[in-house]
Amino acid sequence: MPLKVAVRYSSYCLSKKASCFILLLMFLGYSPFIIYDIYVTSVEVEFYNLHMEDVTDSANEYECVIPDYDPYDPHVTKYLSTSPVIQCGQPQPYLTYLDYDGFIHLNKTTIKNSGHDERDYECQYSEILRTNKSDDKFSLGIPQMFKETEKIQSSAFVLVKCFLKSADLVYESGHAYVPPPSAELYTASRRKSNDVDHPSVLIFGVDSMSRLNFVRQLPRTYHVLTNVLDAIVFKGMTKTGDNTFPNMMALLSGINVHKRNNKSNTLSVYKPTYFDDVPIVWDSFRASGYATMYNEDAPSLTVFNFHASGFKDQPTDYYVRPFWLALNSISSFHSKDSRCYGNTPKHMYLLDYIEQFAARMKNHRYFAFTFLTLLSHDDLNEVQVADSDFENMFLKMQQEGQLNNTIVIVLGDHGHRFSGIRKTDIGRVEERMPFLAVSLPTEFKDRYPHLVEGLKQNHNTLLSWFDFYEMLMDLAHNNLGKKSFVHRYGTIGSSPFRWISKNRTCEEAGIPDEYCICARERQLNTNDERVKTAARDLVAYINSDLLGSTVNEGVCSPLYLKRILGAQMLSLGAQVAQAKGFRVLYRVMVQVMPSKAMFEGTLEADAWNRQGNIVGDVNRINRYGNQSHCVSDKIVRLYCYCTDLLGGSHQNEAQQMTANYRSQVTYDLTEK
Ligand SMILES: *[C@@H]1O[C@H](CO)[C@@H](O)[C@H](O)[C@H]1NC(C)=O
Ligand SMILES: *[C@@H]1O[C@H](CO)[C@@H](O)[C@H](O)[C@H]1NC(C)=O
Ligand SMILES: *[C@@H]1O[C@H](CO)[C@@H](O)[C@H](O)[C@H]1NC(C)=O
Ligand SMILES: *[C@@H]1O[C@H](CO)[C@@H](O)[C@H](O)[C@H]1NC(C)=O
Ligand SMILES: *[C@@H]1O[C@H](CO)[C@@H](O)[C@H](O)[C@H]1NC(C)=O
Ligand SMILES: *[C@@H]1O[C@H](CO)[C@@H](O)[C@H](O)[C@H]1NC(C)=O
Repeated sequence: MPLKVAVRYSSYCLSKKASCFILLLMFLGYSPFIIYDIYVTSVEVEFYNLHMEDVTDSANEYECVIPDYDPYDPHVTKYLSTSPVIQCGQPQPYLTYLDYDGFIHLNKTTIKNSGHDERDYECQYSEILRTNKSDDKFSLGIPQMFKETEKIQSSAFVLVKCFLKSADLVYESGHAYVPPPSAELYTASRRKSNDVDHPSVLIFGVDSMSRLNFVRQLPRTYHVLTNVLDAIVFKGMTKTGDNTFPNMMALLSGINVHKRNNKSNTLSVYKPTYFDDVPIVWDSFRASGYATMYNEDAPSLTVFNFHASGFKDQPTDYYVRPFWLALNSISSFHSKDSRCYGNTPKHMYLLDYIEQFAARMKNHRYFAFTFLTLLSHDDLNEVQVADSDFENMFLKMQQEGQLNNTIVIVLGDHGHRFSGIRKTDIGRVEERMPFLAVSLPTEFKDRYPHLVEGLKQNHNTLLSWFDFYEMLMDLAHNNLGKKSFVHRYGTIGSSPFRWISKNRTCEEAGIPDEYCICARERQLNTNDERVKTAARDLVAYINSDLLGSTVNEGVCSPLYLKRILGAQMLSLGAQVAQAKGFRVLYRVMVQVMPSKAMFEGTLEADAWNRQGNIVGDVNRINRYGNQSHCVSDKIVRLYCYCTDLLGGSHQNEAQQMTANYRSQVTYDLTEK
C-alpha cells in the first residue's frame, strides 16, 4: 500500500468530515504511522476550524490582501495638524557665498546696505576636511583672509567667519559646492551621447514617511512625482525591520541584519562598528562607471553612524558628512528656530546640494543616496513645511532637463513609530508601510517597455526593501534586457522589474511576521483571557530581557503591567488557506509602570502550543526620551526606566515593583 495514497485518503476523509475513519483503518491494516498522521491532522484541522470562524475575509485565500486606507480616515484626522512655517529670521547678515564653481565671494549688496565700508570687514574661510580614518571628526584648514573672490582649493566645503573692524565676530556660516569629478572619475562616468542603458539613480529618502502620511503632508511633491515625473507609487511596500537601519541596509546592501534566535524566536540586529567591508550597492554602481554620492542631513542619526562608527574611508566619491558635522559645530548666530542654521532652513542645505549635484553630473552616470531626517523624524506633521521646497527641487531639475536620464526614487524607510497615531489601527499599518515612488525617464521607458510593465503589475503587490535592492542591482549590472535572466544578487527578494506573484508571503519577501500586513485580523476584547495571558507574557518577556543580565541590575526598574490598550488576533496571508502548519498571532498593546511606556508585542499560538511565544521585535510606541539615559544597548534603551529617576521617596515603590516583578515571574513559570 503506497503511503502517499493512504495519507491523501485520510486527509480527504477528515476534510469531508466523513466517518470513513474505521473503514480506512481496516483498509490500511492498522499502520501506526497512519494513525499518528490522522491524529496530527485532526488536531490541526480542529485548531484551524476554530480560528477560521474569525477569519472573515473571502478573497482568494492565497493572496496577500494589501490594506488600503483612506489617508483622511476619521480615526486619524485628530492627529493631523498644521505646523508653524520655518522662520529663521536674520540672526546675521548675508555676508558671503560660494558660487557653483567654487569661488568664495563677499556679498557686496549686504556690505553696501550695512552702512560700513568694505574695508571694515575682515572675512576668512577655512576648508573643511575629513579626518583620515574617522567619520566623526573633521579638521579645518588654515584660515584664509579674502577681499576679492577666490577659488577654494582642496575641499568642497568651507566655514566662513567675518569680523567687523578687526574685533567683533559678526558672521559665521558654512558653504558647500559640488566640484567637477576628478579626471579619472570624469572619464569613467562621462556619458557617450545617448547612454539610455545606464540611467543615473537619484534616491531621495524622508525618514519615517509612510505612504499615507506622504499623501497628507506632501501633496505638492506627490503631485509632481505622480503627474510630472509619472512615478509609480507602490502600495504594497512593507518594511523589513523596526527602524531606519534594518530597512535601509536591506535596500542598500540586500543584507538581512536580523539574527533570529531559534529557541525564543526573537530577532536581534547585527550592526558592525565600521561598514567599510560591507558591500553596498554604490560599490556595484561605481564598478560600472557611475559616480557616487551620499548625503544625509542629521549626522548623529545617519544610517551608518547611529550607534556605529560609519566608515574609516570615505565610502562614495561625493560625501557630505564632514560638512554637516562642521555646520553643527557653529556656535554663534543661531536662529531662534531650531530648524535653521543661521539664516537658512537646514533642509535647504540638503536640497541645494542635490540640485547642484544633478546639474553638475548631468552628462555623467551617477548613483546618489540622499536622506532627510531632521524635519520628519520627530513629528508626524512637521515635514509639511518643506512640501513646496521639495516640489520646487524636483520641478527645477525636471525643467532643466537634469532628470532626462535619471531614475528618481523617493522613499520613506518606515512610517511614524512614536506619534500618537501609532496607537490606532491605521497608524500601526502605516508604520509598517513606507512611501515608495519610482520614476523612470522617458527614453528608458521607450527602450525597456517590459520593465515598465513589470513595475506597473507590481504596484499593488506585497514588496519589501529586499526587492528594490534587486532592482538597483539590475540597474548597476545592466541586467535589463527582455531575455536577460532573472538573477538574485542578495539573499532574498525579487526585482520588481519583473512580475511578482500576488500569492507571495511575507516570509518570501523577507518581512518578519510581526510586520506582516497580509494578516486577516480580528479585534479581541481586553478582558479576553487569551489577551490577559498574552499581556502578562509580554511584560514578563520585557522584564527578563531588561533584567536578565546582571549589567542592568539595579540600574533599570522592573516594569509592571498597568493597562491593556488593545489586542487583535491575526492569521497570516497565504497560510490562511490550509490547516497544516496553521497558526494565529495575538498582538497586544500594553502600558507599563513606572515609565508609562507603551509596548506592542506579537505572540504566536499553533495547534500544539496554544500559549503564545513572543515573535520578533517588541515595539516601543511612545518616546523613551531621557528615561533610559543610564543604558546604551539599543534594545534595552527601549525598555529601561532608570532607577535614579524614581527619586529617594520612591525607593519603597521600587522595592514594591521588584516584588511585583518577582511574583510575575513566578506566576509565569507556574502557568506554563
Ligand atoms: C546677498 O545679500 C542679499 C541681502 O543683503 C541677499 O538677498 C542675497 O541673496 C545675497 N546674495 C547671495 C548670492 O547670497
Ligand atoms: C590623509 O590621507 C591622505 C591620503 O592617504 C594623505 O595624503 C594625507 O596626508 C593624510 N592626512 C593626514 C592628516 O594624515
Ligand atoms: C536557526 O535555524 C536556521 C534554519 O533552521 C539555521 O539556518 C540557523 O543556523 C539557526 N540559527 C541558530 C543561531 O541556531
Ligand atoms: C530633456 O528632454 C526634453 C524632452 O525630451 C528635451 O526637450 C530637452 O532638450 C532635454 N534636455 C536636455 C538637457 O537634454
Ligand atoms: C494563487 O494560488 C492559488 C492556489 O495555488 C492559484 O489558484 C492562483 O492561481 C494563484 N494566483 C496567482 C496570482 O498566482
Ligand atoms: C537625563 O536625566 C539624568 C538624571 O536625571 C540627568 O543626569 C541627565 O542630564 C539628563 N539628560 C538629559 C539629556 O536631559
